[in-house]
Amino acid sequence: MKNPKAVDLPNFGVLECDLEQSEIDYLWEKVKKYTPEATWEGNTCVDAGKMEDKQFAINDDENIFTEKVLIPMTENYFSAYGTPFKHKSSHFHQMTFSRFWGRLSKDGDYQSIHDHQGVFTFVVWLRIPFEGKVERKIQPGFRPEAGDFVLVYPDTCGALQKRTWVLGPGAEGKMLFFPSDLNHIVYPHYSTEEYRISLAGDICLNSIMPSGLINPSADFASMAMHQGIYKTGQSVS
Ligand SMILES: [Fe+2]
Repeated sequence: MKNPKAVDLPNFGVLECDLEQSEIDYLWEKVKKYTPEATWEGNTCVDAGKMEDKQFAINDDENIFTEKVLIPMTENYFSAYGTPFKHKSSHFHQMTFSRFWGRLSKDGDYQSIHDHQGVFTFVVWLRIPFEGKVERKIQPGFRPEAGDFVLVYPDTCGALQKRTWVLGPGAEGKMLFFPSDLNHIVYPHYSTEEYRISLAGDICLNSIMPSGLINPSADFASMAMHQGIYKTGQSVS
């Protein structure tokens, strides 16, 4: 035997980043703008208002978040991992920001395992009013992963693995960027009645502006007929 070596097999990872203070300030401005029913003391939400206002839509009004964060993160992801899905369309597509929202989570609130509609999903932690390392010790064994953000994914053997982010105030201003197909969980916190404030959003393919053919050698006319879009004999330009 000569030179045994480990060969890593590819899988899709995630990107983490710290947002600039100016970007964090911009997001806080939007959170307060789009929670008109909420009562704030500085960056602490003391009352969300109506129950249905605990999740609220946000608009990136000045496109600052898109231009300074989302576009560079998307480019970084493609550079690091490529496209996290198989192409099932005839043409390349631009990416577009499809949804952006915030959540005001009280103690006991959680999100069970789920994925998103889109290509990329992100989460920004703006206010984490608890320390995850403390949360799990309050009733040891009965609150595992309390307050954590967890990704669940198959490894190269098909077994499920999980990656946990134990959150606390140190996570404020951090962003996680990952494929929308990646399953994730948000576990509840219990040690404070203060709201945990996180933002999330999805980036998808822009279907109104496709660009060049992915496979230029394909016979587009016959491909279109196979898809049932055009009747036989109809010319396809
Ligand atoms: Fe989610």
